[in-house]
Amino acid sequence: MRLVLVGPPGAGKGTQAQFIASNLSIPKISTGDIFRANVSGGTELGRIAKEYMDRGDLVPDEVTIAMVRDRLSESDAQDGFLLDGFPRNVPQAEILKKMLSEFGAALDVVLELVVDDEEVVRRLAGRRTCGQCGRIWHVDFDDKKDDVCDVCGGRLYQREDDSEETVRHRLEVYQEQTAPLVSFYADESLLVGVDATGPVEEITQRAMEALRPFAD
Ligand code: AP5
Repeated sequence: MRLVLVGPPGAGKGTQAQFIASNLSIPKISTGDIFRANVSGGTELGRIAKEYMDRGDLVPDEVTIAMVRDRLSESDAQDGFLLDGFPRNVPQAEILKKMLSEFGAALDVVLELVVDDEEVVRRLAGRRTCGQCGRIWHVDFDDKKDDVCDVCGGRLYQREDDSEETVRHRLEVYQEQTAPLVSFYADESLLVGVDATGPVEEITQRAMEALRPFAD
């Protein structure tokens, strides 16, 4: 399955992506994760991306698109993938469509995670991420009292773009630049929406149910 996840910051894209991709046995490709790995690795790409990410703005399209093209060319992405965080505006969506058609492929479905702004701010203020395995936690909802990952023992960190002020700016950027993707994909008859509030496992179940008609 070739699947895109859309939704505002904090909708739970990263959380759901790890379970959905594993259930479907497809690679999870997160542009945010790739940028953050480059920032912590001190690469040139990371240096460029960091400036935009810290402000909560989008990294320029030419940088992001080249990175995604390289990743989608890798062998594990040839039979399917889950894209988390890309595309993030209509020009990126148009390029993705063209890129896939060059590979003789097309998207099967776009899954929108629907959640309101106040829930987003609450979720992101308490988010912690494992620096070793990337597992996402929440201090309240997962009752995390320490900063150690229960899965691999790695150290948890708080993302620099999760301050309330930057989160509110990211939400504005989402409304201006990413929300138009919802109607773009509705017009392409690819859009399926799920309510992304409630317990994580229930949302995964709803998502898998919504994706069932598109499974091979
Ligand atoms: P990116 O990493 O993609 O961030 P985002 O879209 O803002 O999304 P988040 O990762 O913040 O949230 P999420 O929806 O994944 O939520 P999560 O599952 O973690 O992008 C970061 C930056 O990179 C961008 O700002 C931009 O600069 C750049 N970038 C990336 N892609 C780009 C592109 N294509 N073009 C240009 N620039 C790009 O969940 C959040 C918290 O809530 C967690 O703590 C989690 O445990 C908790 N939680 C999840 N589900 C639930 C639930 N059901 N109940 C309670 N808590 C929950």
